[in-house]
Amino acid sequence: MKTIIEPFRIKSVEPLHHSTPAEREQYLEQAGYNLFLIEARHILIDLLTDSGTNAMSTEQWAAVMLGDESYAGSDSFFRLKKVVDELTGFRHMIPTHQGRAAERILFTVMCKPGHIVPSNTHFDTTRANIEFTGARAVDLPVPEAADTQARLDFKGNMDVAALEALLAAEGAAKIPLVMLTVTNNSGGGQPVSLANIEAVWGVCRRHGIPLYLDACRFAENAWFIHERETGYGQWSPKQIAQRMFSFADGCTFSAKKDAFANIGGFLCTSDDRLALQETNLLILTEGFPTYGGLAGRDLDAIAVGLEEILDPDYLHYRIVSTGYLGRHIADRGVPIVEPPGGHAIYIDAARMLPHIPSNQFPGQALAVALYRHAGIRSVEIGSLMFGAAARHELLRLAIPRRVYTQSHIDYVVEAILEVNANKDQIHGLEIVEEPPFLRHFSARFRQL
Ligand code: F0G
Repeated sequence: MKTIIEPFRIKSVEPLHHSTPAEREQYLEQAGYNLFLIEARHILIDLLTDSGTNAMSTEQWAAVMLGDESYAGSDSFFRLKKVVDELTGFRHMIPTHQGRAAERILFTVMCKPGHIVPSNTHFDTTRANIEFTGARAVDLPVPEAADTQARLDFKGNMDVAALEALLAAEGAAKIPLVMLTVTNNSGGGQPVSLANIEAVWGVCRRHGIPLYLDACRFAENAWFIHERETGYGQWSPKQIAQRMFSFADGCTFSAKKDAFANIGGFLCTSDDRLALQETNLLILTEGFPTYGGLAGRDLDAIAVGLEEILDPDYLHYRIVSTGYLGRHIADRGVPIVEPPGGHAIYIDAARMLPHIPSNQFPGQALAVALYRHAGIRSVEIGSLMFGAAARHELLRLAIPRRVYTQSHIDYVVEAILEVNANKDQIHGLEIVEEPPFLRHFSARFRQL
């Protein structure tokens, strides 16, 4: 059969809320044109993020009932640890309430002022947590990633030559770790090849620097490798994921993405000394090492989700359905980051709205236009989120896992094409109020 269907059926449903254009105009004004500040019940289709917005399965809900809420040594911890051990091979799994808590602990232990942490592309919380320690976060994407229109298989890769050059210029002593974000979220949800992971790992080995995966979307990355990288067509997603982790010394993980959970995360390492420092810090702010800020039931939902996510039928559907949204808008003239990513489609707002300069936030202006027109929430990934470190002006449409059906996506396609047809009428924005950092969450704007 050519039709690829959602590999699940729906047992429990939530209503969606329509609003009128006049109501949406009022919500926009009240929120200072920042979609993070609009109440979720005023959103029709929410593509703000794929993080924590997953629909859990019957197996996960059943596992929730099995959660062991013991303060120390709970069964839930050991069930999760077993799954993570088998998947990653790392000796220590330190649970945290979400990905950024793992990042904060890792960077607090490993980074000092003057340090540099290179990545293919850091996510906003990763960058912010590194910079909070006084270290510098450096993005080294492959040069081909600069062209949003280039249709390459592994545009998420790190520029290995640039990493070597950075090491030669700065010296290995300044670089406490290297990170690879799989898939490369801020770089368009693009995958990283196993060849690239292995090459980066080789450089790190030679210089005695640990390599960490920011593994939020490891399963989607594994599926792209299965589909695109020579030699892996016969490998299961799980075997590929295991190989990805085999080239790393540790990982940070947000279970809100590729574990089908609504909350949770962990930090892994095989370094006993580091693990001790990390668990000490964990106890200060997250909780005892066998629950790390989560309920036992959350640990169980993550354990089940980590196995479900590696189902080839699911991953096939996931990547094809994201591509469906991408192709339907790109083939009708909306410039997206090509090829479509794993968890999201990224519209190249600078290319779509050449009349809006970067300092008037074309991605944010487009997010506002799409909400105004059709009640769809998306997120800017550009100069608003990253300031001077932004490489593109993107609008991300992230797709929550197992939540929306194809007709929801068809509605999104129709809305985007209509907005595109009237794009000349979209105006830029000016910030009128902003916090000292992570300004995209709470800045307020004025329409120009
Ligand atoms: N790393 C990456 C690549 C991420 O995409 C995120 C979160 C994190 C780390 C932090 O994890 O949210 O559990 O603390 N990304 C979400 C997003 C928020 O919308 O892309 P967290």
